[in-house]
Order: sequence, then structure tokens, then C-alpha cells
Amino acid sequence: MREYNVAILGATGAVGTRMIQQLEQSTIPTKSVKLLASSRSAGKKLKFKGKELTVEETTPDSFNGIDLVLASAGGSVSAKYLPEAVKRGAVCVDNTSHFRMDPEVPLVVPEINADRVEEHRGILSDPNCSTIQMVMALGPIYRKFGLKQVICSTYQAVSGAGQSALNELMEESQQVLNGEPVHPKILPTKGDKKHYQMAFNLLPQIDVFHDDGYTHEEWKMIHETKKILLNDMNAKDIKVTATCVRVPIRIAHGETVYFEVEDKSATADQIRDLLEKAPGVVVQDDPAHQIYPQSILAEGKRDTFVGRIRPDLENKGAFNMWVVSDNLLKGAAWNAVQIAEELVKRDLVRVPDNPYIPENK
Ligand code: A2P
Repeated sequence: MREYNVAILGATGAVGTRMIQQLEQSTIPTKSVKLLASSRSAGKKLKFKGKELTVEETTPDSFNGIDLVLASAGGSVSAKYLPEAVKRGAVCVDNTSHFRMDPEVPLVVPEINADRVEEHRGILSDPNCSTIQMVMALGPIYRKFGLKQVICSTYQAVSGAGQSALNELMEESQQVLNGEPVHPKILPTKGDKKHYQMAFNLLPQIDVFHDDGYTHEEWKMIHETKKILLNDMNAKDIKVTATCVRVPIRIAHGETVYFEVEDKSATADQIRDLLEKAPGVVVQDDPAHQIYPQSILAEGKRDTFVGRIRPDLENKGAFNMWVVSDNLLKGAAWNAVQIAEELVKRDLVRVPDNPYIPENK
């Protein structure tokens, strides 16, 4: 049996630490595991399968001898290092948004479009956390009943903005409770000019704004959903729109999803049955007993939880549902490790003869 030399890029981050944990619990046979981050955390010790490993500063040569890279260190870090890793023969599963819309890069949610891994030329992308949980619920519905339109509102946990944002939320919450002033430096998004209080607040901005008034997170949800379901980021067959809101919770995004199916005879019971059988989806939907998905119950779980499935009262063929999932697991680390498992299963942890090295394009 082949064993793999694996590197985790961004190993000290909110997603990276979970990549370590998900890799430990996966079916991937590891010969060695290398933990990479910036110079700030070089020398730090983290454990893999009970063994202490030392975090190393990332350089292009960190990828010599590596077969598989799991990356979650930010888009610019992936842009710089993944081409270097591919040049050195490593297959990369990237959790950042950097390569997601590149036509040469498969964008994969294994339960929905696993076969796309066959097309990889060195880099594969993990979709955005809010997209993954939405397509986990919509994928089976699309296949059975067709989809005309999707309108999503998100309630996104702060951990999606990284460990430092999570620290900011905790600090601010304590400060507000103590009646002290807060000093926001990161949220709503590190890359923008102004920063606002997140504790006890809602911020309708995730990532930066485009000229059309949508945020980049909203743009990602629209185009990634189309790329995953229709294999074309600009496909017109399904209309998708989103409003993304950051809420002051730590982990597990919630989403209200309004969707209109092609087959107007579809019923809420049929959709519930379909999702009960869908891999990776757990239906929690019993209003009479107040059963519905909750973020604190989804935290630490790999599944996507769906509830409140109900027909729209005025539009036949339209429905509403509530979707919750751990944004750091299915939304990031677990989905990335699942892609890697799929590559291992199909013996595809090898860079093909015509590798895709973006900087050389
Ligand atoms: P470090 O701990 O050294 O800063 P998060 O998403 O939680 O903010 O984590 C980001 C991850 O990306 C961390 O592991 C961080 O390492 C890593 N990282 C940030 N900048 C770089 C860089 N220039 N090179 C390699 N890793 C980086």
C-alpha cells in the first residue's frame, strides 16, 4: 500500500489545526506529516497521532519530497507556494479562494461532484464554507427535481475569518460585559479600511465589496454554486443570489435557503426523504417537538444539518429550509481531507505529465 508524505500549509490556523485532526482520523496512509506556517510560529510544537511535530517556516523547498499538500494559509500564500509545490511533484488541495474559479482547477464537494477530481492537474480547490453546506443540501434536490432559483441568507460564525478574528470576538465580548471600550482591528474583514465591533452585533459584510454592491463572499456563493452544480461559474440555468452576514458566534454557519424547483409536483415530504438518504446530510426537522439544527449542536461534527423544510405559502414549487454546518470541518478541513481521500482511493495523488503551474501560464 502506498503511503504519503503530507504537508499542511497554515497548520497553526483555525482550519489548519482541524486539518491535522481530520487527517489523523482519515483513511489516508501517511508516511510523514510536515506542518508549515509563517516564521511567527516556526518552532511551535503540535501533535499528530500522539507524536510531537515541530512547525516549520514555509519556503519553496519545504515541498521537496511531498506527495500531498493541504493548504489553508490565505490566498496570497497559496498563490505563492502551490505552484512551487506542484513543480516539485506535490498534489495540492487548497482551501483558499485563490484558484477556485480557475477553469483548470476542479472545485469539489465529494458527495456532490467527486468525479471532478479525475480532471486535476496538480491543484484542486475546496469551495467556500457557506457554499459547501448549501450545495450539500441543494445537490440532491437539483438532481431529482431540478432547480430554477436559489436565494440564500447566511448567518456566519466568526471563526470563518480565522483564529485572530475569533480571539477578537472573545476579547470584545468580555470587554462589553465589563463595560469597557472595544478596539476592533480585524472584523468585519482584515483586508478593508474600517473595523467594527462584532460582539453583540451583526455585520452584513464578509470580505470586501465589489462595485456592484455585493461582497466577495456573496460573489463566491453565486459562482461557486454554479461551478459545482453546473460545471460553469457563469451558467444561467440556475439563478442564485446571496446576502452574507457575520453573527457573533464562534463556530457553525446557519443559512436560510429559499429555492424553486423545476418539478412543481415536488413536496416538502419528498425533499425531506431525499435529504434523509443523502450522504453527509442529517435532517433535524420536527417543529412539533422544536427540533431543528442549531450551531452549538453542529460544532465538531462533519455532517450538514437541515431542518425547517417547508413549502412557500404562495409560490408552488418553491421551498424554504435552514442549513447548519461546522464551517471549519465540512466547510473547510474535512471537505479538504475528503477530497484527498478521494484522490487516494482513485490513485490520483500524482501530478500528471501536463501539470498546471499557474505562474507559468
Ligand atoms: P502563523 O501561525 O505563523 O501566522 P487563520 O486562518 O486562523 O488566520 O490561520 C492562518 C494560517 O496561515 C496560520 O497557520 C498562519 O501561520 C499561516 N500563514 C499566514 N501567513 C503565512 C505565510 N506567509 N507563510 C506561511 N504560512 C502563513
